[in-house]
Amino acid sequence: MNTILVIDYGSQYNMLISRRIREMNVYSLVVRYDQDFSKYEDIVGVILSGGPSSVYDDFSPEFNQKILDLNVPILGICYGMQLLVKTFGGKISSASKREYGKVVIENVVYGELNRNLSKNTSVWMSHSDYLDEMPKGFTMLSKSKNAIAMIENQRKRLYGVQFHPEVTHTEEGRKLIENFVFNICKAKKEWNVSDFLQEKVDFIKNTVKDETVILGLSGGVDSTVCAALLDMAISSQLTCIFVDTGLLRKNEAIDVINGYGTLKHLKIIKVDAKARFFEALKNITDPEEKRKIIGRVFFEVFEEEKKKHKEAKFLAQGTIYPDVIESSSVSGPSETIKSHHNVGGMPLQDSFIIIEPLRDLFKDEVRALGRILGLDDTLINRHPFPGPGLGIRVIGEVDEKRVKILQEADYIFIEELRKHGLYNKVSQAFVVLLPVKTVGVMGDQRTYENVACIRSVNTTDFMTADVSRLPFEFLEVVSSRIVNEVLGINRVTFDITSKPPGTIEWE
Ligand code: XMP
Repeated sequence: MNTILVIDYGSQYNMLISRRIREMNVYSLVVRYDQDFSKYEDIVGVILSGGPSSVYDDFSPEFNQKILDLNVPILGICYGMQLLVKTFGGKISSASKREYGKVVIENVVYGELNRNLSKNTSVWMSHSDYLDEMPKGFTMLSKSKNAIAMIENQRKRLYGVQFHPEVTHTEEGRKLIENFVFNICKAKKEWNVSDFLQEKVDFIKNTVKDETVILGLSGGVDSTVCAALLDMAISSQLTCIFVDTGLLRKNEAIDVINGYGTLKHLKIIKVDAKARFFEALKNITDPEEKRKIIGRVFFEVFEEEKKKHKEAKFLAQGTIYPDVIESSSVSGPSETIKSHHNVGGMPLQDSFIIIEPLRDLFKDEVRALGRILGLDDTLINRHPFPGPGLGIRVIGEVDEKRVKILQEADYIFIEELRKHGLYNKVSQAFVVLLPVKTVGVMGDQRTYENVACIRSVNTTDFMTADVSRLPFEFLEVVSSRIVNEVLGINRVTFDITSKPPGTIEWE
């Protein structure tokens, strides 16, 4: 299958580049820069990602000359472009001021990369170094007020942009990537999820044969789709384990056990570990510490449960492609803004053979697969829910009582979103419980209770996000219901911070 390689120089957006290309039905992989690329077949183009380094830093990642041996067009993005410029004899300088955020660029010359782009178009910039002297043989296609924004060398098939075409803030980013993928690399549309399904079912059957498989089920989209896929391939040989951490949304534990419609026949073992989680979280207020503890306890509980299944030869995990990239990225965990601990990231255990049937798929592709497998839209379209669950939405110390308060408030918010037809119009919505008490009045009584905050964002990639512009009347309904119905909350606020500079979760 023809493939575009995205070479990872540590950008937080490298996955997005690859995803954008797959959305165009062209297969794409993210790979580290310091590799021998000859093992990848049918490469038709290479994209050098951005990255946090400066090309003149002592230990910055180098341009790997083996890329040139592939003899395919190369597009450098931000740091990737600066590497190309340095490699081909141009000059990069440090600016005194960082150019960051939305910037309008002007296309001064039309070439292959900016074909059909508007004369002036807005793009997402994030750089402090800039292209000072063009390398020989390159043409400047566009510029911003402060910097050269796009270059190309058609003869050598080298292209570069100083901005991020992969983020949605770049208005014509998709067009630009299409120019590269189809017009420059001449890629054919060969990638789609339904072919993948048959391939995977065959693969699972051939690998598992008549052995038993266990799978950790979280109630989220990934593990459910994984269960549905395994069910299709080896049905009765599958046992699912569901750990109730006590940090799930209201009714979630019950829903997981009862609610899987088409998957009602799944064999699910429920492990009630609520007390263990709350005990471990006692007196802990630091977000990172909370995340680590929840991850550790989850791992311990799951390990203990796994040991009870000596008959199983395989352990399936709902790892998806972003988890794979994150754990092998150049920037690695050091650049991680918050530590994630999905099941996919857990240490392997010797006695099982791991199978990860979704490890090639992005989230949207997992959803598409779920639909093909007949899963309910309500389940497929569920907002993402973080691994540490409500543990990172009860700000400060987490205990059962506070989680219960949050569950009730969150339930109301989500119920109202669904009632008003807004649930599928926002990307992720939830309530956060603050460790702040305020004075209120109810009837003739003074109250002194907790503050809750409503968070709702719209995003396509969860890397950047805008605040959902929820109608004011709707917010009033939610606020009034929460304050009236949830004992322990007497004030509701609405978070209007975008990402960046905020993150979606509070901790
Ligand atoms: P942030 O807060 O980093 O969140 O803007 C981006 C997206 O990631 C989700 N998130 C997690 N998902 N394990 C997960 O599986 C985690 O530890 C985790 N932390 C954040 C978050 O809900 C949002 O969708």
